[in-house]
Amino acid sequence: MSNLARIGILTISDRASRGEYPDKGGPTILEWLSRALSSPWEAVARVIPDDGALIEATLRELCDTEGCCLVVTTGGTGPAPRDITPEATEKVCAKMLPGFGERMRSVSLGSVPTAILSRQTAGIRGQSLIINLPGKPAAIAECLQAVFPAVPYCIDLIGGAYLETRADFCAAFRPGR
Ligand code: MTE
Repeated sequence: MSNLARIGILTISDRASRGEYPDKGGPTILEWLSRALSSPWEAVARVIPDDGALIEATLRELCDTEGCCLVVTTGGTGPAPRDITPEATEKVCAKMLPGFGERMRSVSLGSVPTAILSRQTAGIRGQSLIINLPGKPAAIAECLQAVFPAVPYCIDLIGGAYLETRADFCAAFRPGR
């Protein structure tokens, strides 16, 4: 495997996976990361339905086989019966980072009162950080902007790739530097 940082972009949506509407979330994440990151990286994108076993298998594949240091999911974080992304994330992670969900909900509440309906979280699987985002494309930039400054250092701490950001768009914070 090359040393190039790899980032998984996982859209979890029954309807987008069936082609009933185009996947807007995945491309929005790709665009945001392309603006934020100054170090070289490549995306590994997937679009899958809200199926627990498939979400878990895809997260494992992106982390363990594809070698992604970061996996960003979109969709399936709400209260509806088929929304199970946080549960699947928790099942494949050794350690949860609840501060990510807390921060994203807190920032999102400034825009929409329904932000509290998202159970979005984050966790560590091996040398990979998994972050859940809501399915609404409008939520993506808002949530990434709120938590991404801590992401490169988090990935340093778990032995993943060294990510650098464009400070004028999203300044990464590394303590002691
Ligand atoms: N967060 C932001 N920033 N913007 C939004 O529009 N929508 C909320 C919430 N978080 C929203 C948001 C709504 S309406 C829901 S139901 C939940 O995210 C869960 O969305 P999901 O099931 O598509 O992940």
